[in-house]
Parts: sequence; structure tokens; C-alpha cells
Amino acid sequence: MHETNLLTLAMRLASQAGELIASQRQALSVSFKDGTELVTQADVAADRLITEGILTIYPDHQILSEELNPEQATDAEHLWIIAPIDGTVNFAHKHPQVAVSIAYYHKGKARLGVVHNPFLQETFHAQAGKGARLNDQPIRVSGKEELKRALVATGFPYVKDELPLLMNRLHTVLQNCADVRRLGSAALDICWLACGRLDVYYESVKPWDFAAAQLIAREAGAITGHIHPLPAGANPELCGDNLLMSTPALFKPLQALLQQADQLTSKQAATA
Ligand code: IPD
Repeated sequence: MHETNLLTLAMRLASQAGELIASQRQALSVSFKDGTELVTQADVAADRLITEGILTIYPDHQILSEELNPEQATDAEHLWIIAPIDGTVNFAHKHPQVAVSIAYYHKGKARLGVVHNPFLQETFHAQAGKGARLNDQPIRVSGKEELKRALVATGFPYVKDELPLLMNRLHTVLQNCADVRRLGSAALDICWLACGRLDVYYESVKPWDFAAAQLIAREAGAITGHIHPLPAGANPELCGDNLLMSTPALFKPLQALLQQADQLTSKQAATA
């Protein structure tokens, strides 16, 4: 099994899934998982197209995918991680910030990632150790060094049970950085960091939202990590809690600011 073949397959399936979701956007049937998280028939159809496309060629590979296989364990030797649509709310509201995301991990480590936006005709991809590209052109992070000039992206979960934490983080970022964007697709936020359109990204999301984009950002020169140290045994490549990714110079200052914000949230909860 050659990695170039895996990349060719991921690129083809991302493109086909992109065409499928674009063609289904006119007549959408929308429902809500657990009463809050929006999902459309196109999410499920695109997940099926990608999953079947992989398993036809590699029947012994495992698939973690947002709609059809969200419980797959992440320690499989050959693991594909798929978001058929990242930015589903944008998709349903006819906004263009929508992506198909496909990653391949070998023994818990990212080997390749493809993030394809069919509405802007932009495809980001990376292979471990080989750099990152947007529509086949090499990309790099912005190299921003000053906190007060940093453009920061984040997002908010469907379930709003951690509002004090989210608001304290936002408060400190707005106080110390240039501005904030909430664009609605974690995969594209991270790819936009990779190509210099954004300088920082932080949020807690699921593996399918960031598995491909994280490799793309790292290969483009970003530091990828977490706001807090991870519990022993957690795989840093696949833990989506408290993600933080940025240009090299901004990582530590942002990490310190967000840790302070979280300490404030804990103090406020203790005295409430
Ligand atoms: C969502 C997007 C969004 C993020 C949410 C995710 P979905 O994924 O990535 O940017 O803020 O936390 O759930 O639901 O569109 O696949």
C-alpha cells in the first residue's frame, strides 16, 4: 500500500463528495441529532460515498466518520477519519464556508489530510513531512508575532452548557488580540490558519472536525496543541478538547491567556 495511492483516493473521494453535497443543497431535508445538532440527508449520503469508496479498495481499514461510524475506536492500525460536511449549519443556510474532510492515520499518527471546499473550489492537502498545499500551491502560516495584531478564529458547541468558560475566553482574546472570527467550519478555520488568512484557532471539537486540517496546519508551519496539558495516555493528535493552533510565536502567549481565562471561570464557579 503506497501513501501516494491513499492520497489520490482521498482527493478523488473529497471531490466526488463535494459534487454530491453541492448538488443536494437546493432540496435539503434537515433534522436535528439529539434535538440540537443539525444534520441533512447530504451529510449521510456523502459519508456513505466516502466510506464505501475506501472500503471497496481497503476492506480491512477502519473508519471513524461523523454520521455512519462515530464510535469507532481511534487506535486502529489503519484509520480513516471523515467529516462528510464540516460546517453543516453553514451548508443548510447556504453559506460558502463548508468542507469535506478526510484524514488517514497510521498507528495513531496523521499521515495525510484533505479538506475540500466545493463552494469556493479550494482543496487543501498535506502529507506528513511533505508540506501543505492549497489547490496544489505550497502554503505557509502568516508568521504573525504580535498578539495585538492576531486574527483569531474559534467556534461554539451546539450544547451551550459551558457559556461562562466560552465567554471568559472570548473576553480575554478580544481584549488582547486584533479581532475574532466565527466562520462555522473548524476544518476550514484550521486550513485558513495554514494559509495565513488567520493567525490563531482555538476550540473543543470532535476528531472528524480537525483530523485532516491539523496535519495541514502543522505541515504549513503552525504549532498545534492544546490549551491545557493532556491526561496521561491521551493521543495528542486525536484529542479534540481545548485545541489551540497558531503561528509559532503566538502559541505560548495565547496558551497563557486562555489558561488564565479558565482559572477565572473556575474561581467564579467556586464563589457562585
Ligand atoms: C461544527 C463546525 C463548527 C464548530 C462546531 C462543529 P459540523 O461541525 O466545525 O465550526 O464550531 O463545534 O460541530 O457540525 O458542521 O460538522
